[in-house]
Amino acid sequence: MALTPLTSLDVAGKRLAVRADLNVPLTADGVGDATRIARFARGMKPLLDRGARVVVLTHLGRPEGELTPALSTERLVPALSEAFGRPVRFNDTCAGPIVERASERLEPGAVLLCENLRFERGEEQNDPNLGAQLARLGEFYVNDAFSCCHREHASTTAAVLSAGRVAAGPLLIEELTALESALDDPQYPSVALIGGGSVAPRLNVLKRLVPKINTILLGGGLASAFLFARGYSIGRSFIEPEYAEDILEIAALAMVAGCEIVTPQDFVVAGFQRAGINSYPVPLGGIRANRRILDIGPNTVARYQGMLRNARTILWNGPMGTYETKPFDTATNALAQTIAEQTRAGLAVSVAGGGDTLVALNRSGAAHDFTHVSTAGGAFLEWLEGRHMPGLDALERKADAA
Ligand code: 3PG
Repeated sequence: MALTPLTSLDVAGKRLAVRADLNVPLTADGVGDATRIARFARGMKPLLDRGARVVVLTHLGRPEGELTPALSTERLVPALSEAFGRPVRFNDTCAGPIVERASERLEPGAVLLCENLRFERGEEQNDPNLGAQLARLGEFYVNDAFSCCHREHASTTAAVLSAGRVAAGPLLIEELTALESALDDPQYPSVALIGGGSVAPRLNVLKRLVPKINTILLGGGLASAFLFARGYSIGRSFIEPEYAEDILEIAALAMVAGCEIVTPQDFVVAGFQRAGINSYPVPLGGIRANRRILDIGPNTVARYQGMLRNARTILWNGPMGTYETKPFDTATNALAQTIAEQTRAGLAVSVAGGGDTLVALNRSGAAHDFTHVSTAGGAFLEWLEGRHMPGLDALERKADAA
């Protein structure tokens, strides 16, 4: 992809308006999981050290154009200051003459965080006027939010098209490079592990993966959907029966492409999802009508581990079970540890992301040993599906025009 990396530009003394994704979970005391803040700061710090003057633009939550004090980005100032190792200033607007003047007053190495982009109605409407105002906050307009590139918003699209000079930020480049190399230039054998809750977006992911990947291991809702389509009883597990036809089509595509789709041979089941509830493994075919699947079973975990130990490239989206409730995170944690071991030993390249994957891997304690764990949720899935990404498109159009 032809993008201009920010790291290739001379940024000393330059004002950079940077679209970041600091949409982090909040708690009563501040920030819940600061991964997105830490990863953004890690990429930007060397540029600040080279004398860049940085204006940070982000959304937080979904305030839908309403000024919502609980979603003010001012709440991120302490965590962002800590991550950057320097005080971060705050401006209570993100567009207009006041914030523009504040950006001009920034000295080299200084950071200014603007108020929540989504307090502006024009943000989600991709308003060209708002885009032009955002673009005026820097001599360069930078998109460092791969995780927002599936949104056609003023900060991802109109601002990029209106700006004089644009660049792709370090985290965006890191994310894209990792994803493209895992999907389009993998070392073989390649294995994809696909779990998670919602089935619909992952059907398109499977259609895209089947011609590119040797083996696909299923868990989560997709595993139940495949087994249901093949006529197995899955008890009271949640199921969307309307996808049976897509599933049979994917199975046929896989046969033609020589891709092996592997479904679990046992499951951990219980009456319902609750910590401490009586749960036990059962083989496929033995799930009673009043039981629901909460995780893949120990035999499946052992089989998947064996396959992962032979893989040179591993792509992971979606936890294997209802990982939010213990002990139904067991399979997810065990497979995460196996992938971490393979990666640490230099035997595999591992790339994970999308939906709950980042949270599940952070909880497993294995995330830092993966080659790359994406900060993107919905954008990771849409990219894997091969969907049009307006934010990347805008950056490319500008790079082509330059
Ligand atoms: C995310 O958390 O995936 C991104 O910040 C995008 O947020 P959104 O789904 O509210 O657009």
